[in-house]
Amino acid sequence: MKEKTGEEKGREIQEARVSYEILKPSTMLSPVPVALVSCADPENPARRNLLTIAWAGTINSDPPMLSISVRKSRYSHDLIQRSGEFVVNLTDERLARAADFCGVRSGQDLDKAAETGLTYIPAQGLDIAPAVEGAPVCISCKVREVKELGSHDLFLAEVVAVTVRADLLDAQGGLHLERARLVAYNHGLYQRLGETLGFFGWSVARPEALQRRMAAYQPENSYELKSARFLARDALTAAIHPGDMVVDATMGNGHDTAFLCDLVGPAGRVYAFDIQEQAVAQTRQRLQALDLIDRAKLFVLGHEHLAEQVSEPVAAVVFNLGWLPGGDHGVTTHWETTRTAIQAALSLLKPMGVVVICAYPGHPEGDRERRELTSFLSGLSNRRYNVLHQSFLNATAGAPECFVIQNQR
Ligand SMILES: Cc1cc2nc3c(=O)[nH]c(=O)nc-3n(C[C@H](O)[C@H](O)[C@H](O)COP(=O)(O)O)c2cc1C
Ligand SMILES: C[S@@+](CC[C@H](N)C(=O)[O-])C[C@H]1O[C@@H](n2cnc3c(N)ncnc32)[C@H](O)[C@@H]1O
Repeated sequence: MKEKTGEEKGREIQEARVSYEILKPSTMLSPVPVALVSCADPENPARRNLLTIAWAGTINSDPPMLSISVRKSRYSHDLIQRSGEFVVNLTDERLARAADFCGVRSGQDLDKAAETGLTYIPAQGLDIAPAVEGAPVCISCKVREVKELGSHDLFLAEVVAVTVRADLLDAQGGLHLERARLVAYNHGLYQRLGETLGFFGWSVARPEALQRRMAAYQPENSYELKSARFLARDALTAAIHPGDMVVDATMGNGHDTAFLCDLVGPAGRVYAFDIQEQAVAQTRQRLQALDLIDRAKLFVLGHEHLAEQVSEPVAAVVFNLGWLPGGDHGVTTHWETTRTAIQAALSLLKPMGVVVICAYPGHPEGDRERRELTSFLSGLSNRRYNVLHQSFLNATAGAPECFVIQNQR
């Protein structure tokens, strides 16, 4: 049979039942990874750099090998070529913004780690290239071959070590990368990975095996309405980025302060307030044990003095009202001082910043505080603030409620 011409094939494609348009040839493979690649200068290993690579691929399993395609013009190209080393740090939602920054600014002009608040740690198995602290997975690579392809050079590299964040391993040492909140790059967009549709071989699995295996992925994937504290943490995780300034207005035992220190990273700062010495001491101890104390400034002071202590714009202010768990139930937050602090917090918020409040109406002062708070927040301008109130209509009396106020500009 006579070979069809390109024009004839094109016409057939356009006449197919599903309609198609033909684009000019390009690298349309999608989604691709967002690899935050770290490297360093072999002559001066303190000169370290980060660049973002979407053109990365798995190319061999024995020995384990991967590739990255890098333009000669990148500052990192020379570092990787001369050192023969790099680390692929997988990007999760927390690192996505920094990964974008590292992909649009050059190490020639600035120190990207300092700018993004990321810190380097030694990479297992390598002498020169560092890894990125906090990345869910760091893959240490040694370059075995470089192929010049045209616009890009293809670095073929052997994986000499893989380091995974301990929280992604279960008690048996099994890796749960589905919990890492990894990000994919899809035609110019950074997108979070969603629901699990299946597992390797699910199309041919027996129904019992399919049901049993898939059940294991449901808790992570299913949409579950959780308590006020969960909503509060979700809102804070979304609003806070490495390097941000934030406030914990009710330090208590320091759980939230530690959580915030983790979110702001080493370049960020958490200002935390409590009127009780006991709470501040407890928080200091917790932060020291977690090696987070350098990120926090702790005040034995009521949050009504917030405006006197903080003047720079903040990404978030968190209030967890009520009394100190395990402490004196007679010492609780009071609406009068809470209101002064919330007013100060609102005026400190940077655009899209949030004030997150958990209220506990299960005791008389808490109930009054919740009622006053609801009425105060209802009066805020809807052109300036988005105000969300979460409560469970069928909850037991006194269940905590969450309020999120977002500054629109
Ligand atoms: C999402 C994303 C993916 C990228 N992928 C690649 C890539 O695969 N290869 C490449 O050479 N540059 C890629 N870049 C561009 C470099 O990361 C960018 O030019 C960076 O500024 C180079 O940094 P350097 O000069 O410090 O090495 C990408 C950028 C972004 C934002
Ligand atoms: C529910 S606890 C906070 C728990 C804390 N977020 C945690 O993660 O452990 C409330 C705290 O607010 C403190 N507090 C009460 N009045 C305050 C005020 N005016 N300024 C700052 N903190 C206050 C209490 O001492 C108590 O430790």
